[in-house]
Amino acid sequence: MRISVIPFLFLSLPSAFSTLTAWETAEQAARQARSLLKDPTVFGVGTLSTVYPDRHPDESLRGSIMSGPEYFAPCFPENGDLLFLGLTVSQNWRNVRQSDHHNATFSVGSNADPGVVDPRHSARTRVAFSSSPDHWDPHRPSWRKGMPSKGRVTLMGHFEELEEQAWQSAEKCFFSHHPDARHWGRPGPDSPHTPFWTRFVIDKVYWIGGFGDEHFIGWLSLERWVEAGNRIGIKAADGGSPNRHSATSTRIQQGEVGADVLFSENSWRESTSPNEAGSLLRFQRE
Ligand SMILES: *[C@@H]1O[C@H](CO)[C@@H](O)[C@H](O)[C@H]1NC(C)=O
Repeated sequence: MRISVIPFLFLSLPSAFSTLTAWETAEQAARQARSLLKDPTVFGVGTLSTVYPDRHPDESLRGSIMSGPEYFAPCFPENGDLLFLGLTVSQNWRNVRQSDHHNATFSVGSNADPGVVDPRHSARTRVAFSSSPDHWDPHRPSWRKGMPSKGRVTLMGHFEELEEQAWQSAEKCFFSHHPDARHWGRPGPDSPHTPFWTRFVIDKVYWIGGFGDEHFIGWLSLERWVEAGNRIGIKAADGGSPNRHSATSTRIQQGEVGADVLFSENSWRESTSPNEAGSLLRFQRE
């Protein structure tokens, strides 16, 4: 079986490659991408990239790309947009504010630690692929456990700053995911920063599920991105404990595992990561 598949892999066109050989459909890939944003082993951190404006005082930087890590919070479950805490001191945020379009690209990768098991490759979630139960390979080689074997998403979009009357609920949701950000997320005597709350409106989604012979690689339509949130049971942000949103873990405990349930409290507990000290879905403690 395997032998007959291999020559086919090499012959197939790159565009056909992922769709014909991936374990997932585009719909399932979209659910994995939405789940990644809530993955507690990712800590609500991704890389924000922006472009220096054409009128930047340092001519040598105009048009250059700036890139750096940022906290995000999945506070717009209705369509998957992300909430950010902007700081005027940061060049990335200055670039966003100074451009007319406020465009940016944000990417989120899975936990790169090979010791943090990708649930799609684990024995525990083998049942999740009930239509193809052979995805668990006890002899999975170690080179198929690192970052390249795992999912990552690139989101292109633009920022829309929230009106001040929406700041209170934004703070509540963001700080529930990142309690430490309270220390710089509010203007005050302890913080030299001028914070603002801004929504990353997602316009385009590109997903690399892992190695192309196993996982979906390609663009995901916005419709799929939005719909996927409903399918993984993300509820409206109540600004309270993210743990209350863990419909997935309840379903796992009840044995109703679906192909979309990939990143959950349970998979986190099963991971062999040394830093698993019960952080669950809360990304960061104070
Ligand atoms: C900004 O993003 C939008 C939506 O992705 C795109 O249509 C537009 O061309 C972008 N503008 C620039 C200047 O990159």
